[in-house]
Amino acid sequence: MAWLKEQIELVKIAADAALAQAHTQEKLEQVRVAFLGRQGTIADLMVHLKSVSVEEKKECGPLLNELKNELTAAYSTQQVALEKAVERAALEQQKLFDVTAYVHEPVSGSRHIYTQLIEQLEDIFISMGYDIAAGPEVETEYHNFTALNVPTDHPARDMQDTFWMHVPQMLLRTQTSSVQVRSMEKQGAPLAIFAPGRVYRNEQVDASHDFMFMQAEGLVIDKHISLSHLLATARSFLQAIFEKKDLNIRVRPGYFPFVEPGLEIDASCPFCSSGCSICKKTGWIELMGSGLVHPHVLRTCGIDPNVYSGFAFGFGIERMAMIKYGITDIRQFHAGKIDFLKQF
Ligand code: DAH
Repeated sequence: MAWLKEQIELVKIAADAALAQAHTQEKLEQVRVAFLGRQGTIADLMVHLKSVSVEEKKECGPLLNELKNELTAAYSTQQVALEKAVERAALEQQKLFDVTAYVHEPVSGSRHIYTQLIEQLEDIFISMGYDIAAGPEVETEYHNFTALNVPTDHPARDMQDTFWMHVPQMLLRTQTSSVQVRSMEKQGAPLAIFAPGRVYRNEQVDASHDFMFMQAEGLVIDKHISLSHLLATARSFLQAIFEKKDLNIRVRPGYFPFVEPGLEIDASCPFCSSGCSICKKTGWIELMGSGLVHPHVLRTCGIDPNVYSGFAFGFGIERMAMIKYGITDIRQFHAGKIDFLKQF
């Protein structure tokens, strides 16, 4: 048999075998390039065809064309089959896709409501010239009670209210007023401090009482400090924190051993003018204890009450946040529930 005819038959066998093996689109493309490409085997044979005798051309030309057409058709069929197979595989994958499966979405964190409110308060007091102060949560009985003029038999010292440590005369502070004592001891007069922090009380927990909560304390000591400084300060900071310029305050007598006179300060309800559920239809909200620092406390802390006077105030941060944001249960602050926390 003439060489060219033999080649055509061999190429046909080789191409059929190669196509049968081409199970992926890449492999099929390699087969196309090898046999049907511009420099492929068929193109080579076409070149060769030009150099053979007329008889051989007559015989081999149609054979070669036939081979080319057959191969092209077989290639197309194979290509379509492979595309279908890929589609089918994708559909199978989709069937396995579970639309109810949990998709992990990144949860972006937010600052705790405490942090936000404390930062707002600190900004307000810093703008009024105060320093931010802090004291220990495990405190001495002296700083928490004695130096603050709380009598030894005062019920607040009772086992009911105070978490005592096993170490004698040590406790978990029950009030941030202890920071007053530490600041006066450390800095002397004059001073102006604002001290937010955690306090602890051995109390039955319910929607408005927790055994651990946040307080903030303010203390200003200078010459000629009077009640008018206290009232102006209280009004300004409450107006700022509730973002209400016409918020007013009123005072009632209150007893706290470390101040004389002692006052309870109420704010006019920031949410209504004639009574709502937040102010329990009274138009006023109880917010803080305060007063002029007791001369005995000044003396105990090394400050001469004949030269200096001061005012102090303290309030619960949760209570303020609950009023400001309409929160109804104090326990939510520590519950660690994302749904609650992310609202703020
Ligand atoms: N320490 C008080 C309490 O826990 C609050 C308080 C009242 C603080 C009067 C003060 C003040 O500085 O002058 O209830």
